[in-house]
Amino acid sequence: MALRIGIVGCGKIAGNHARALQQVPGVEVVGCCDPDLERARTFAAAHGITRAVGSVAELFTLGLDACTVCTPHPVHEEVVVAAAQAGIHVLCEKPIAVDVAAADRMVEAADRAGITFGVLFQRRFWPAARRIRDAIDDGRIGVPVLGEASVILHRPSSYYSADAWRGRWDTDGGGVLMTQAVHQIDMLQWFMGEAVQVSGFIRTHTHGEHIETEDSASAVVSFASGGTATVTATTGANHNLGNRVTVLGQTGAVASVLEFPEGQEGVNEIWTVPGDTEFRAPFTSDVRANLDVTEVNAGLADFHTLQVQDFADAVLTGRAPAVTGRDARASLAIVAAVYESSRTGRVVDLTPAPAPVTTKENA
Ligand SMILES: NC(=O)c1ccc[n+]([C@@H]2O[C@H](COP(=O)([O-])OP(=O)(O)OC[C@H]3O[C@@H](n4cnc5c(N)ncnc54)[C@H](O)[C@@H]3O)[C@@H](O)[C@H]2O)c1
Repeated sequence: MALRIGIVGCGKIAGNHARALQQVPGVEVVGCCDPDLERARTFAAAHGITRAVGSVAELFTLGLDACTVCTPHPVHEEVVVAAAQAGIHVLCEKPIAVDVAAADRMVEAADRAGITFGVLFQRRFWPAARRIRDAIDDGRIGVPVLGEASVILHRPSSYYSADAWRGRWDTDGGGVLMTQAVHQIDMLQWFMGEAVQVSGFIRTHTHGEHIETEDSASAVVSFASGGTATVTATTGANHNLGNRVTVLGQTGAVASVLEFPEGQEGVNEIWTVPGDTEFRAPFTSDVRANLDVTEVNAGLADFHTLQVQDFADAVLTGRAPAVTGRDARASLAIVAAVYESSRTGRVVDLTPAPAPVTTKENA
């Protein structure tokens, strides 16, 4: 029996989901929905999906086993909670939500329903990122003591004006930290472990005519291990220099994963792990750095496929997916803490995720 999956939201990133789902054996995309029904119909026609409907409620009448969520971030909560209540497994786009309380409600709803709940952070599937994670686990890097996430991106003003929801606190929940840097913050905390304190500043330097949220941020994070890390993020760079996450471990090893141009598979730019040293110099003046966001998304599609495969396997086997709702709550908590710290001028203590809900079924 095929796993029957629906796609919620038929905008830009949904194409990666349709292509990914169609490559996974044993998965059938049975429908898609968008309040803009014309958009849903055009999307369905482009991807050979038989049913296009105008609401999540209608989509859920098609007999789904699972759905993927590609709506703007503030809409993630209502879709994930509705899916959980309907017993439908769910793979949601990042960020999990725009505030930590919403993320907690989503995790709790999924726990209570006993559904599989994954969140899309496809960069974790890059071999270069997994190589760092493996070298932390097997002790070659050792406990990471210093980290750095650098997100130096270019977005033209048309990126913000094309989608009315972008760049507003009520409809986007944040700016570069919430939408772009949350990927590298996820990777940083995947490498460094549980974050416990955050301080930082957000600013709007470049795109102030078009957005009210931040286009730039600087932050410091401390981890339960005693390690610390910095985060630097902007969408205001004139040339897009991509993303880099670097860790220094207790063994003195340094490893980085660099994504340049943005959307291309990350590579280990620096790898000075005992007995094994490599350097790469990817910046050359003939590289086209300022890719359109559709090209950035297209470059990430193969890794969407790997995460969708992982999710389908998790549903079928009952194991946890590679990135759980709790994992995604952790990166959101760091983003939210930078906002709070910038607003209050204080260091913010992070609260741990709530304990799993025990129900009659999972006791
Ligand atoms: N993993 C990645 O690399 C990646 C890349 C881009 C976007 N994203 C995430 O994907 C999400 C969507 O981003 P996008 O760029 O595709 O946005 P988009 O604006 O292009 O598309 C969003 C779509 O959701 C629809 N929508 C809104 N409310 C809905 C509802 N209640 N039910 C169903 N559909 C609804 C909109 O009409 C629109 O068609 C965001 O959360 C974003 O962070 C992830």
